[in-house]
Amino acid sequence: MDIVWGISALFHDAALSIACNNEVLFASSAERFSRLKNDASLNTRLVDHALQFGAPSRIVWYENTFKRSLRYLLKDGRLKLFNANKYLKSFNIDAKVEYGSHHKSHLLSALYTSPFQSNCLGVVIDSVGEFDSLSVWDIKNKDCMTKIHSHAYPDSLGLFYSAVTDLVGLKPQEDEYILMGMASYGKTDYYHRFFKQFFYEEHCLIDCRRGIKGLLSEREIHSNKCDIALGAQKIYEEMLLRIVRKFMKKTGYDKVILSGGCALNCKANTLLLNEAHVHIFPNPGDAGSALGCCLSDHAHVQNMFLGYDAGSIEDLNGIIDVLLTDGVVGIVNGKAEFGPRALGHRSILADPRRRNIRDKVNNIKGRELFRPFAPAILREFVDEYFDTKGHSPDNFKYMQYVLHCTRPHSIPAVVHVDGTSRVQTVDGTNPFLYSLLKIWKERTGCPVLLNTSLNKKGKPLVNAIDDLSEFTDRHFRVATSRGMI
Ligand SMILES: [Fe+2]
Repeated sequence: MDIVWGISALFHDAALSIACNNEVLFASSAERFSRLKNDASLNTRLVDHALQFGAPSRIVWYENTFKRSLRYLLKDGRLKLFNANKYLKSFNIDAKVEYGSHHKSHLLSALYTSPFQSNCLGVVIDSVGEFDSLSVWDIKNKDCMTKIHSHAYPDSLGLFYSAVTDLVGLKPQEDEYILMGMASYGKTDYYHRFFKQFFYEEHCLIDCRRGIKGLLSEREIHSNKCDIALGAQKIYEEMLLRIVRKFMKKTGYDKVILSGGCALNCKANTLLLNEAHVHIFPNPGDAGSALGCCLSDHAHVQNMFLGYDAGSIEDLNGIIDVLLTDGVVGIVNGKAEFGPRALGHRSILADPRRRNIRDKVNNIKGRELFRPFAPAILREFVDEYFDTKGHSPDNFKYMQYVLHCTRPHSIPAVVHVDGTSRVQTVDGTNPFLYSLLKIWKERTGCPVLLNTSLNKKGKPLVNAIDDLSEFTDRHFRVATSRGMI
């Protein structure tokens, strides 16, 4: 058996995926096993679990570590050479290591999950790869992909967004999604205009490597956080559209594949949807690249349930009973999702018709009360609740876009302050949640459930049933393969 491991590690959010004959057997972030959010390193629990699929005959590292070392040398004047073989030997893994390229691994991960296989534009945007922070690709087919444009670090749109995340007191490389949520509360265009002066065309002219705290006074930041967030969001949206429009015009393509950590910005993604046919890889950050680098040519990944298998739940009606009495229920079912979004296997589900359920779920998770929740909806009903602008419901399977809700009073718990929702359409390709939603619809008339990740603030998604112990003093029930606990 030709068992290939793809590894992304030692930057942020390490991950390991396993392919055999170009089919993915397993993929997981390291954090799910170490229980350390965004863990940059592999760990023994993950590696031991991976070895159950057989020892690897070959390992592909997601990027070129020599080029990475060179970047550090140019930045700090110090050479930090990195040896993947030595690192893997510390886990008793001794197999031939090949090296990919950072942005190509991002791109391939997206391509292997994409309905578009030829004649499309590939766009990768992150904080930095080896040197690239943006790369644009002409994908004629899987054998002919040409990089036609790039930006080199520290000219980086992703790094700019992270620097603003840091500026308002959030954690860069982790809390960017909170900054995006805060932008909805912004009122003035002032900071958009302020940040704009640091951009020329789509190029970021300020060096964001060590943050941008000197740009504004502490007092100004403190009283204008949401407006600052809005300014950064508008800049990102503007630049993304500028880049995509420019290269769509140049290549004549109307299909776009987007990857890189910035592709998690669902508000900007939604604007892109109005410009082109779009595919966005559901795990577009560096962790997802572990998938792209270990596959080749004709691989096609069907779904993102690729992680640890916690066993299947049998009693679906029992889950609905709990939802009707308590309004909320946890789920630990089957294989965990590979990616940041809970798609129904490691979820907290709740009744979206109850306005106050939002506070209850926020309390369970221990997170800020302003944070919105997403709706999971039966695919066939999406047009009854959301303005899809004629786009196929298939676009919305992975919560990568926001849609305007047309019936906010029916499902108040899943509508953001700006009237939008980060929608997840559910069909037969997600059989567990699809069956559950169908029973929920039969019993309540409502085809929507609130769906959020099963984790405590600051912790990764629950992986195994035993991880539920992280919810100390737990006040909600969780459906598992061991029954309702
Ligand atoms: Fe990246």
